[in-house]
Amino acid sequence: MTMPAKSAAADAVPVDADRLRFAVVGCGTFARAQHIPNIARSAKAALEVCCDVSPASLEACKPFNPTRTTTDWRDAVADPRVQAVLLATTESLRLPVIELAASLGKGVYVEKPLAADVAAMRAIQKVVHQSGIPFCLGHNRRAAPAFVEARRIFRGHLANPKPCPWRFDREKAGRPKLPDDAVPAISVRINDDWWSWVGAAFDKTKMPLGPMLFEMTHFVDICNWFLDAEPLDVFAMETGMLTHSVIIRYANGSLATIASSANGSFGYPKELYECMGAGGVVAVDHMVEVRTAGIEGAPPRITFPMRGDKHEQVGAEGGIGGWLAKKKAATLDAERAGNPMLQFTAEPDRGHARAIDRFVDQIQGRGPEFCGVDGAVLAGRVCFAAIRSAKEGRIVPLAEI
Ligand SMILES: NC(=O)c1ccc[n+]([C@@H]2O[C@H](COP(=O)([O-])OP(=O)(O)OC[C@H]3O[C@@H](n4cnc5c(N)ncnc54)[C@H](O)[C@@H]3O)[C@@H](O)[C@H]2O)c1
Repeated sequence: MTMPAKSAAADAVPVDADRLRFAVVGCGTFARAQHIPNIARSAKAALEVCCDVSPASLEACKPFNPTRTTTDWRDAVADPRVQAVLLATTESLRLPVIELAASLGKGVYVEKPLAADVAAMRAIQKVVHQSGIPFCLGHNRRAAPAFVEARRIFRGHLANPKPCPWRFDREKAGRPKLPDDAVPAISVRINDDWWSWVGAAFDKTKMPLGPMLFEMTHFVDICNWFLDAEPLDVFAMETGMLTHSVIIRYANGSLATIASSANGSFGYPKELYECMGAGGVVAVDHMVEVRTAGIEGAPPRITFPMRGDKHEQVGAEGGIGGWLAKKKAATLDAERAGNPMLQFTAEPDRGHARAIDRFVDQIQGRGPEFCGVDGAVLAGRVCFAAIRSAKEGRIVPLAEI
């Protein structure tokens, strides 16, 4: 789901030498809703070139004040003023742009999914490794404040679990030693509404493999990142395009289960992640609330600021309760006005703007790699294994992919 673009021209900061100059290649719905305004507003990045084959898309970029526009991506990438490329076309255009940027030593931020097939994904990985360019896949959730905090708590607990004083320890010294004692697991529930999807999602020439690739790569990446282990096997079932369940088994014995249906409703939170391990739980609810249990020192509930809140007086307690109240008010507004766009209020911070700033930090040597090519390929391989598993009705070892 993408939000309508808000003009960033008014709050854009003046360009200075520290701001990394980006060419955005592919200025479609998503780039204009997120990347272009985010770069225009960032204190770390500057919008040098907007590039799209569609003159109408380029016209719509003008409020964000790019230095110039072009319909030719080679011209955009090769521009000597451009220091990094943000590639936000669909996966039908990836490798040639990355190859040119790599030949010029320019960093590339690529939207998900990395590629439309495994061979293209591996080719990108090779170019990035050989050139050594800074590279980032748009797994923006890694920069969402709720995920950053939840992962810090969860990994900290797994690394140093303290006995929970009230844990119901029935057998005490007689408890058997189990090989999967303390081994973590993650359950992910995705609620989406496919009526909101853009036409390209159904166009096999643009997005040939459907949401098991273009959506699931985000959720798999979070599981990989939280579990910090090597995925080994994948099993998946699907109803068609809209509903699927995927189980991933990891080398340390962990399991991640992702259950996703696009026959849901925007009136309910989209994403719930529940991470269990070593007698503790960390849940991330729609990136507006993190809940914990059984983890010494961790607050039971942490709430996170929302973006574009048009209902500040409603649901002022924040978190998931506050979000539900705001959403209810917004859907009533939408119903009364006969305008579905009014339902969008108080969106979670999914980390889109922060991900770009983190990538700039990486390029300028001020921060670690954000989501590099190997992490991107790993998430992609799990998705391709899930697609094969659902098609062939068997567990697919990742080594096959
Ligand atoms: N990270 C997220 O949360 C998120 C959300 C939505 C979409 N996305 C991803 O963003 C990407 C774009 O999605 P979208 O919904 O904006 O699609 P879109 O079709 O609206 O935009 C793609 C744009 O690329 C342009 N384009 C195509 N070929 C080109 C070429 N040769 N040179 C220059 N421009 C070219 C098109 O004209 C179009 O404007 C996809 O990979 C999608 O998966 C990410």
